[in-house]
Amino acid sequence: MEYDQFQTATGTDVSLAKRLLEEGWPVAIPTETVYGLAANALDDDAVLKIFKAKNRPHFNPLIIHLAGWSDVAKYAAEVPDVFDELARHFAPGPLTFLVKKADVVPGLVTAGSPKVAIRIPAHPLTRQLLLSLDFPLAAPSANPSGYVSPTTAQHVYEGLHGKIPYILDGGTCTVGVESTIIDFEDGQLIIWRKGGVAVEEIERIIGRKAIVKTGVENHPVAPGQLKSHYATATPLHVGDVAKMRAAFSGKKICLLEFGGNLVNVPAAFRFQLSPTANLDVAAKNLFSVMRQAGTCGADVILAEWVPEHGMGLAINDRLRRAAVNI
Ligand code: TXA
Ligand code: MG
Repeated sequence: MEYDQFQTATGTDVSLAKRLLEEGWPVAIPTETVYGLAANALDDDAVLKIFKAKNRPHFNPLIIHLAGWSDVAKYAAEVPDVFDELARHFAPGPLTFLVKKADVVPGLVTAGSPKVAIRIPAHPLTRQLLLSLDFPLAAPSANPSGYVSPTTAQHVYEGLHGKIPYILDGGTCTVGVESTIIDFEDGQLIIWRKGGVAVEEIERIIGRKAIVKTGVENHPVAPGQLKSHYATATPLHVGDVAKMRAAFSGKKICLLEFGGNLVNVPAAFRFQLSPTANLDVAAKNLFSVMRQAGTCGADVILAEWVPEHGMGLAINDRLRRAAVNI
């Protein structure tokens, strides 16, 4: 089969997904956070196909996905106790652990870093798939590099059709934003990317504060830190919407709303993250709504910040990365 010439199929056939992965092809898989583009993490040729399909720079490392936390010892040279404790609560789940890699993990997957990112996804189809395979799956989000992550099989198709053979369709992702990425250095728990497990939940389990990294300045290839990571097709501005609205008079405005704060702001298009101002619902809807807003025909998208707690931290982080005015 010539690469780059696939008829991309979508379906729920786990054995077909397994066979393609065993033959070294990349396959899109559902997870509870976002869809991933998976390949055999131990096969460099297969992993290279992920980078190629996404047009992803090789310096950006990939998370490896395992069937269960008990497999972590195969791929990690060392696991801090606090990770075992967190895994008891959040594995399977939307939490990714940075650990010293074992020799078996290829340098291509970690982009040369001595640490590997490990996650146990919770989606039943992907758990079934992982249990049937005798290798872990390297999987970044299944979008072309720099675009919004996919939360439905259709989103994956729109971004990658013709470039991958199969999309395993597991419905709409229930969490909707990517996993929280944690690290452990010098006795300190570090959160590199705010995501599907809230910072407060992690701090409650470990009984102390974590160090939460926020900006591009922290780390050369820090997890999820590339600024233009969530570009929408139409420019997105985030902040005080009533004030920003005034600066765009005469333009076709699209509002990203959270609850009823913006009912009196005139706009050509409106999209609700959550009509009842529920942060979990807003996280689930965020990327779909960003896609729809990006193609609705507006000149500019205006979004308000959501409350900065729980899933709100991850939502505001993604809005900030997508915004052209920050
Ligand atoms: O929820 C998720 O995490 C999804 C699903 C598919 O599991 N995956 C995902 O992958 O969001 P990706 O590649 O789009 O984002 C992973 C982030 C990237 O910013 C990457 O730089 C970072 O994790 N990362 C991966 N391995 C790393 C490593 N060894 N050291 C530092 N950062 C790493
Ligand atoms: Mg991504």
